[in-house]
Amino acid sequence: MLDLADRDGVPNPGEQKNQQMELIKKRMSRVKHKIAVISGKGGVGKSLVTVNLAMGLAVNSKERRVAILDADLTGPCVPKMMGLKGKRLDVGPMGIAPVKGPEGVDVVSMDFLLPTDDSPVIWRGPLKMGAIRQFLGEVAWGPLDFLLVDLPPGTGDESLSILQLLPEMDGVIIVTIPSEVSQAVVKKAVTFARKMDVPVFGIIENMAGLVCPHCGETIEVFSEGGGARVAKEMAVELLGSIPIDPRISMDSDEGTPFILRHSDSPAAKSFIKIIEKIEKKVKHE
Ligand SMILES: Nc1ncnc2c1ncn2[C@@H]1O[C@H](COP(=O)(O)OP(=O)(O)O)[C@@H](O)[C@H]1O
Ligand SMILES: [Mg+2]
Repeated sequence: MLDLADRDGVPNPGEQKNQQMELIKKRMSRVKHKIAVISGKGGVGKSLVTVNLAMGLAVNSKERRVAILDADLTGPCVPKMMGLKGKRLDVGPMGIAPVKGPEGVDVVSMDFLLPTDDSPVIWRGPLKMGAIRQFLGEVAWGPLDFLLVDLPPGTGDESLSILQLLPEMDGVIIVTIPSEVSQAVVKKAVTFARKMDVPVFGIIENMAGLVCPHCGETIEVFSEGGGARVAKEMAVELLGSIPIDPRISMDSDEGTPFILRHSDSPAAKSFIKIIEKIEKKVKHE
């Protein structure tokens, strides 16, 4: 078949994709541990978990290099939670430069490319995958100890394609909330990860109970023990439970990672334990 693009010396789309895949392989080979955070549905705290895990990992070891890829292209909210709204990606000699966040955590997000706050990202699948390929292959991630990927909500095609782009994932973390519907989607998420041959690190049950702002006691809001039940049923670990704490959403809105500002709270303590478990899981670092 006659290839017009090739005659002008411009690589055709297939060739361009192959080049990008090579670049991704090269860049990702310098990342020691790749962890994806997934959920069966949106609004369960996936981004919150990604941000606070990254912060905790970075704080625990000063030499450790941690980065976040906000792969939720239609609802990118990692920059807001880290106080990086309005920042822009730069192009440096080594490629696209990530934005430096608190504790030296590098962030790449679609949000850094959107012209205004209320710009919707309306794309078709192939375009989205093109953006993710660029983020993985053309960003100068440099050598990293941890790359946390905040996947789009759900276990659909999009999450699947992104996971396929990430070679040698260490594991996925599934975020859920303790209601029946959410438990059903967790099972889907576990099956999804297993089909992809990616180890499941475990489940984080978010919004498990409410910390009373007056007395500090935890009040059960949904039925208790849902996370533990589903974890047992699916033979995966329950990494921990995080209560609802009004200070969490306040901190997220203000762009200060919760784990840094309220390190003494029950939610932060739970996060810290979860981080220790993750550190153990990747101990061969
Ligand atoms: N445990 C919690 N306590 C209080 N607010 C929370 C908690 N977990 C998440 N939130 C808030 O709920 C909203 C949705 O969380 P987010 O991480 O954006 O969900 P997702 O990424 O799964 O869509 C955010 O405003 C976040 O600050
Ligand atoms: Mg999110």
